[in-house]
Amino acid sequence: MEKITAVKGMQDIYQPEVRLWQHIESLIRSEMNTFAYGEIRTPIIEKTELFVRGVGDGTDIVKKEMYTFTDKGERSVTMRPEGTASVVRAINEHNLLNSGEPVSKFYYIGPMFRYERPQKGRLRQFYQFGVECYGSESPFIDAEVIQILYNILSKLKLSDICVKLNSIGCPECRPVFRQSAEKYFSGIKEKLCGECNERISSNPLRIYDCKTPSCKENTEGAPVILEHLCPGCSGHFEKVKAALDSIGIPFTVDPRLVRGLDYYTRTAFEVTSRHLGAQDALGGGGRYDNLVSELGGPKTPAIGFAMGLERVVIAMKNQKAEPDFTGGCRAYVIPLSKNESGYAFKLLSALRKANIPSQMAVSEKKAGAHFKDAEKLGADFAVIIGEDEIKNGALTVKDLKNRSQKSVSESELTEYIKG
Ligand code: HAM
Repeated sequence: MEKITAVKGMQDIYQPEVRLWQHIESLIRSEMNTFAYGEIRTPIIEKTELFVRGVGDGTDIVKKEMYTFTDKGERSVTMRPEGTASVVRAINEHNLLNSGEPVSKFYYIGPMFRYERPQKGRLRQFYQFGVECYGSESPFIDAEVIQILYNILSKLKLSDICVKLNSIGCPECRPVFRQSAEKYFSGIKEKLCGECNERISSNPLRIYDCKTPSCKENTEGAPVILEHLCPGCSGHFEKVKAALDSIGIPFTVDPRLVRGLDYYTRTAFEVTSRHLGAQDALGGGGRYDNLVSELGGPKTPAIGFAMGLERVVIAMKNQKAEPDFTGGCRAYVIPLSKNESGYAFKLLSALRKANIPSQMAVSEKKAGAHFKDAEKLGADFAVIIGEDEIKNGALTVKDLKNRSQKSVSESELTEYIKG
């Protein structure tokens, strides 16, 4: 029979790599606790309309990448391509916004789905950790959100990360910039790729982001948004930069940084790593001060980001930043024959009751082969149980790290292993 494989662009995560995922997730949760963000879990499937309105019908995500289908009730539903729109829907639906202080802060970890061309670091099902903060226009909140991403990546020992920062203005100043960008790009349209030609009138900002070499080259002299910001936006940008400086977060202003989702206003940022290939963004986000009201809620400023967990895992592996996970199994209990297995099973149960991570050999093998299994597990101790051990009430405990051996009474075993 032919084996059934996973769907293209979707992957299984299992031992030993899953421990690295758990390590990343527990660091995230601890950091979120420190920053006082509460977790939110939203459904994986939403009404299609949420993303069309939320992410924007001119974006690649909505135009080409959504997993959309009609359910048995004839409703068009979509597997979430990102988390922000869902969180906004949930806070509006359940009135989760505080009026004033404290500002409402949420985080999530979960799978997202985009029908993209799979390559290293780009999947069709991928995990995001995201934070969303509602109710404040303060530039300190922009700095806080960037600090969270920076702190987590630094605590995961990822060096060579680069925080790129830009402001993409607001509905007041962006149209003026758009006009001058449109004019510029129309003048050089034969030098741009086919897709960018379409973008000139639909979304000229995306041209700055195009990876086609001719587009990259020919947009060098294009107008930049930072020179078109209104006083409100440029004042905000200056304060965000000052706040980041004050807490020692290094960043580079990248006036060509744009984002692939339509909801952003003012601050936009991305964190990239040199230890990734073409898909070098570990995370990205920005302000979206109009989305809550565009999705039916009260006028509420907002900011957030999402980080791609697969990319963090790749960067950590490439940089050899993975922690040492050996020692997950403390004791390996080895009955030397079937006669001792009942006794060994009870002993195993006692060790686990004392919270000692332990396993037991369940097949009959030569002692040497058992020791090899224990080493494979990364166990610290092998507890050997033979006829004599049971008779004398003293177990042979082999320290697999020091290669020493000791006889330990059953009653002292848990203390000995814990120590
Ligand atoms: P995004 O830039 O589309 O933003 O995605 C954020 C991160 O998710 C990327 O930097 C990348 O690490 C990861 N990512 C995106 N697509 C893929 C993929 N196909 N395969 C693997 N990883 C991927 C957002 O999604 C916004 N919702 C972020 C945000 C939150 N803005 C404000 N709040």
